[in-house]
Amino acid sequence: MTRASEFWTFFDREAAPQLARREPTFRQIFQYLDQFNHPVTIVETGCVRLAGNWAGDGQSTVLFDKYVCLRDEASVVYTVDIDEAATKQARALVSDRVKVTCADSVTFLTELVAKLSNEAKTVDLLYLDSFDVDWTHLYPSSIHHLKELCAAMRVIRKDTLVAVDDCPLEASFVPGPQGQAEFVQGPFVGGKGRLVAEFAAACGAQPHFAAYQAGWTGF
Ligand SMILES: C[S@@+](CC[C@H](N)C(=O)[O-])C[C@H]1O[C@@H](n2cnc3c(N)ncnc32)[C@H](O)[C@@H]1O
Repeated sequence: MTRASEFWTFFDREAAPQLARREPTFRQIFQYLDQFNHPVTIVETGCVRLAGNWAGDGQSTVLFDKYVCLRDEASVVYTVDIDEAATKQARALVSDRVKVTCADSVTFLTELVAKLSNEAKTVDLLYLDSFDVDWTHLYPSSIHHLKELCAAMRVIRKDTLVAVDDCPLEASFVPGPQGQAEFVQGPFVGGKGRLVAEFAAACGAQPHFAAYQAGWTGF
C-alpha cells in the first residue's frame, strides 16, 4: 500500500463518516493536492480548536497533518489562530509537520509570504477558516477572509487551490405557482467566502466547488 493510499483509507474509514456537509469538498481538496508531484505547502487560517468536532468545525488541521504525514517526507502545513487556547489545542492534536502560530492571520500571512518568497516557495493550498461568521452580518468575516487572500497573493500560483470554509450558498427567491422556489437573485457563495467569491468572479478565477466550502484556482 502506498502512503497516499493510507491517507485515503483513513479519510474513507475515519474522517468521511464524521465530516457531514464538508465530506465531498474535503475529498475534492485532497484529490486536487494528489495531482501535484512535488511536496505540498498548505497554509491555513483558523486552526482546530476542539478535538473531535468533525461535523461542527471540520478538524481541518488534523486532516492536513494526516495528509502531509502520509504523503511524503517534505510536505508542510502552516496554521495560524489568534486564540492562544486554540493554538495550544492544535499543537496537542497534530505532529511537528504542522507549524502552529498564535497571531492575527493577516499579520501572520504578510510575514509568512515574505519568508516563503525569500525561499522561492509558493503555496499549493490556501485554506481560509478564521474569523467566525455571523450569518446575519457576514461582512466583517467575509472582509477578513478577503484580506487574508490579499495578504497571501504573492505566494499563490495559478494552480494554487484557494478554499474557504463556512460559505453556504445564498439566494433571494419567491414561491412559484407550485410552491417551487423561483430565484430572484443567486444562488451565490455566501458566508465567509462572499467577498472572495466576488473577487474570484471579477478576476476570472475558476470555481472548483461551491457547497458548504468553496474553492477556486486561477487567482
Ligand atoms: C471555525 S474556527 C477554525 C476551525 C478549524 N479550521 C477546524 O476545521 O477545526 C475559527 C478560528 O479562527 C480564529 N480567528 C478568529 N479571528 C482570527 C484572526 N483575526 N486571525 C487568526 N485567527 C482568527 C478563532 O480563534 C477560531 O479558533
